[in-house]
Amino acid sequence: MMPSATVEHLLRKAKQQLSKTSDSPALDSEILFRHITNYSTTELIRESESKVSDINESHFWQLILEREKGTPIAYLVGKREFWSLDFAVNESTLIPRPDTEILLEQAIKITQQQPYCKILDLGTGSGNIAISIAHECPTANITAVDISSDALNIAQQNATRLGVQNVRFLLSDWFNKLTTERFDLIASNPPYVAKDDEHLICGDVRFEPRSALISGDQGLDDIKHIARHSLNFLEKNGQILIEHGATQGAKVRSILHKVGFSRCETFNDLSNNERVSKSQLL
Ligand SMILES: C[S@@+](CC[C@H](N)C(=O)[O-])C[C@H]1O[C@@H](n2cnc3c(N)ncnc32)[C@H](O)[C@@H]1O
Repeated sequence: MMPSATVEHLLRKAKQQLSKTSDSPALDSEILFRHITNYSTTELIRESESKVSDINESHFWQLILEREKGTPIAYLVGKREFWSLDFAVNESTLIPRPDTEILLEQAIKITQQQPYCKILDLGTGSGNIAISIAHECPTANITAVDISSDALNIAQQNATRLGVQNVRFLLSDWFNKLTTERFDLIASNPPYVAKDDEHLICGDVRFEPRSALISGDQGLDDIKHIARHSLNFLEKNGQILIEHGATQGAKVRSILHKVGFSRCETFNDLSNNERVSKSQLL
């Protein structure tokens, strides 16, 4: 019988195997190995000469094979960090992106001025926006909506595990299940990718739910719908925060103006792309 491989040997072989399909083969191998063994980064270094058990080795190679086929690391380990919190994710949820933290920063500024505000998160996915706001501002009253019951289940589990109690989850096609309520803030990272966008066939995006990504020919159908209907669900002086694509800033500002919003402002990411627009109903 072949002696078991050492940690270092296994990681080297895995890195080699992933080098054709992944941009970060060494990091991917380490994350997957640590996921299986629960090793910290320090333990991984300390144990580099230790033998790996057969069970761990075969589980590890299963994950490496999945990764080789392109499955996102976040789906393989079942989680992704957002706003320094760990969110469970699976194939029914979008994988939270660092860009969405731009929206979160703005939402938190609003809660600092209005700690008891009512907030609606449209298209909550893993719940990352609603739950992160709730974590920062336990006095806010938050409703989080999604059309996917599978995504809402994950979001609900995330809320429970992260100990937030001020988010209500609602299965709804955008505003359909809301009645006469009014909110101080509507926040949304809706689908905004055009149906023929070339990014849809690249990297992690290939594995994410189409319904979380695509929104008509130009990627703007859901943003238009949300902007138009938000008027009926906002308090006077209520605000809207929408994440959008890097080239959609001018179009989104124009949509918001046309439906009746004022004071439109757009916030950029670190590469200076326009990513989040905010507007107010006066
Ligand atoms: C871009 S993802 C955003 C997920 C999460 N908020 C985030 O920032 O990672 C868009 C979300 O909108 C949801 N969605 C799509 N169409 C919807 C609709 N008609 N009504 C409610 N939610 C919808 C999708 O299921 C998905 O979870």
